[in-house]
Amino acid sequence: MPNVKIRISGRDSAYKIKIGSGILSDVGPWAAAALKRDCGRIVIVSNPTVFQLYGETVDRSLTAAGFTVSRFLMKDGEIHKSFKTAEAALSAFSEAGMTRTDAVVALGGGVVGDLAGFAAAMFLRGIAFLQVPTSLLAMIDSSVGGKTGVNTAFGKNLVGAFHQPAGVLIDVETLATLPRRELTAGLCEMVKHAAISGRPLLERTNNFLGPEFDISNLRYQIGDGVNPLKSKEKVKFSKIKDQSSKVKNLVDLISENVAFKAKIVAGDERESSKRMDGRSRKVLNFGHTLAHALEKVTEYKYFKHGEAVGYGVLFAAELSKSLALCDENVVKSLNDVVQRVGILPVLGNIDGNEVLEAFKFDKKHISGSLQMILLKAIGKPVILTEKDIPRATVQKVLKKLLQKWA
Ligand SMILES: NC(=O)c1ccc[n+]([C@@H]2O[C@H](COP(=O)([O-])OP(=O)(O)OC[C@H]3O[C@@H](n4cnc5c(N)ncnc54)[C@H](O)[C@@H]3O)[C@@H](O)[C@H]2O)c1
Ligand SMILES: [Zn+2]
Repeated sequence: MPNVKIRISGRDSAYKIKIGSGILSDVGPWAAAALKRDCGRIVIVSNPTVFQLYGETVDRSLTAAGFTVSRFLMKDGEIHKSFKTAEAALSAFSEAGMTRTDAVVALGGGVVGDLAGFAAAMFLRGIAFLQVPTSLLAMIDSSVGGKTGVNTAFGKNLVGAFHQPAGVLIDVETLATLPRRELTAGLCEMVKHAAISGRPLLERTNNFLGPEFDISNLRYQIGDGVNPLKSKEKVKFSKIKDQSSKVKNLVDLISENVAFKAKIVAGDERESSKRMDGRSRKVLNFGHTLAHALEKVTEYKYFKHGEAVGYGVLFAAELSKSLALCDENVVKSLNDVVQRVGILPVLGNIDGNEVLEAFKFDKKHISGSLQMILLKAIGKPVILTEKDIPRATVQKVLKKLLQKWA
């Protein structure tokens, strides 16, 4: 299975991202190579859902590589990405006897990765951490780029630190157990990357999804086809003919997404507020103005983040067309691909005015004035500020789409 290595040159850091299928049991030697020689202890940060599936493999491999391993399992769910959990993680690090040369391994989705990275950034003013992402979203997005943090009462992701991992290990086989909705959510972030990267990545994403994307195929095709969460489930694995090519395509597609994000991050590690060009880190927020607003008005209980991004990408494309930035083809291409990622939850009677009001919260992230990432073409993002976008146009597009998606 091809393993892909990518080097991100950040401000003061460079690290490798290893991507492959069935490589989780190599985590020990890989960690030993990625970390400094005097790292003796590792705390695995995970949650019970993921640890039950993959924890023992990781623990065994790290132990065999000579590390003293302990674990901190946080509760599963976005609500636990909090200061309280981070504090508990810090206590666990301390109890494990961690010193400045020791390291944290984050094993899980974006919630675990963000929290583990933030705790590692704070402990003794910063110790090394490694990312072993197990959700698609974490593999292609949150594990790469060094943004870590927690949610607070005053907002999501407003408190955190830039702390680059010492390495990222992505084993696509772990996706075999990922719930369907989580996979769709990750695919929506993939569509976001394709939209701002260019036609080649969009085409490869389309090819991977095929005419109709079916998770059960992917499940059969990676791993041994048996979902360990439902071990009684038996799957006739031998029936799958093109197993290796589908897995290879997935490894390649994830690699391309990671490479794309890594390139943007390398050029603008801290998301400079001044930059307004099409390769600023801000463009990774394409589709996120509406996504954040939809999440906010539904009190973060209804959508998976990526699902909201799916709608956000389509809204940004439609708005770009209405502002005569791009033509109908862009909207059509993105609608086609979003249709194939799976089913998105219906919007029901979400109030357009509340959504417009919620747009304002994105200002906190970007220097006091709302900035929107729009498209001149697939692969040509532009950043506009609210003064360049007539409110009436935003209202009209929003109204039309909310009706369509109700
Ligand atoms: N740091 C960044 O740059 C960045 C970027 C994007 C998103 N994020 C953050 O990422 C988080 C979302 O991440 P997510 O979508 O991975 O959600 P998540 O971490 O909550 O994972 C989704 C669910 O899938 C489960 N899971 C994960 N891997 C699994 C597997 N292989 N098998 C079975 N179950 C599995 C998790 O336990 C969880 O229940 C948000 O908090 C978001 O703010 C951060
Ligand atoms: Zn996102």
